[in-house]
Amino acid sequence: MDDVDRLVELMKEADYIVVLTGAGVSTESGLPDFRSPTSGLWQDESLMELLSTETLTSDPKRFFERTLPLLELLTEAQPNAAHRVLARWEERGLVKTLITQNIDSLHYEAGSRQLLEVHGQLRTASCSCGALVSFSQLVAKVRKKEIPPRCACGAALRPDVVLFGDPMPASFGQAIGEVERSDLLLVVGSSLQVAPVAYLPNMARAMAIVNLTPTVADGEAKVVLRGRAGEILSELDDRLTRG
Ligand code: APR
Repeated sequence: MDDVDRLVELMKEADYIVVLTGAGVSTESGLPDFRSPTSGLWQDESLMELLSTETLTSDPKRFFERTLPLLELLTEAQPNAAHRVLARWEERGLVKTLITQNIDSLHYEAGSRQLLEVHGQLRTASCSCGALVSFSQLVAKVRKKEIPPRCACGAALRPDVVLFGDPMPASFGQAIGEVERSDLLLVVGSSLQVAPVAYLPNMARAMAIVNLTPTVADGEAKVVLRGRAGEILSELDDRLTRG
């Protein structure tokens, strides 16, 4: 029995599988992750400072002009095999909840709905008055040099993503509950280096990892599958459906 078979057996025996994904599940859609050597976004340290609430409020011109091309790249990408398999597993009742750190909406576009986007998403932008607009409406305003982009009430709009310096959204509290309820947490494409999401694997009764490179949690995992998420999840799906 190889490690893929071992994970297939764990998934067949589990009653409540929860999945946690990171940027590594979207690299096969052409998006950079954050920490892979050379390709990772954080090679450019200034991005962390840029994608912060501090910059958004104190220097909206720099925030929107610098981040817009990156945010638009994220909205143009398409789901890949990994996103599609995970959506199929939810449809079949195999995966109960999908927690993602990604803001690219690719799980949503692939059809996942039991979805907790704990770092936010790029479908909407909001105002302190409670109004919600589409992210494309915000982009159109910025393109017309309306910076900061403004709500009909006059206040500034902001993308519904968690920036450095923001509190975690309510969905993170739900994510903790789901991990505690799970009997198997499957982590796909995350270096597990960013708190508080990085604490979730410690709350799981059993955990398995699918990742291209070693992670800090490999030692606690029952199974670690080293490789690309699209290929591995497709292979797992084949073996699960072969029975
Ligand atoms: N298949 C499997 N794993 C992959 C693939 C792939 N095709 N491509 C990359 N990976 C792995 C990388 O080896 C890396 O370990 O995915 C992991 C991605 O880790 P990070 O780049 O750190 O991304 P992530 O864990 O999602 O970062 C968490 O950090 O900056 C914040 O808010 C940002 O949500 C992000 C958070």
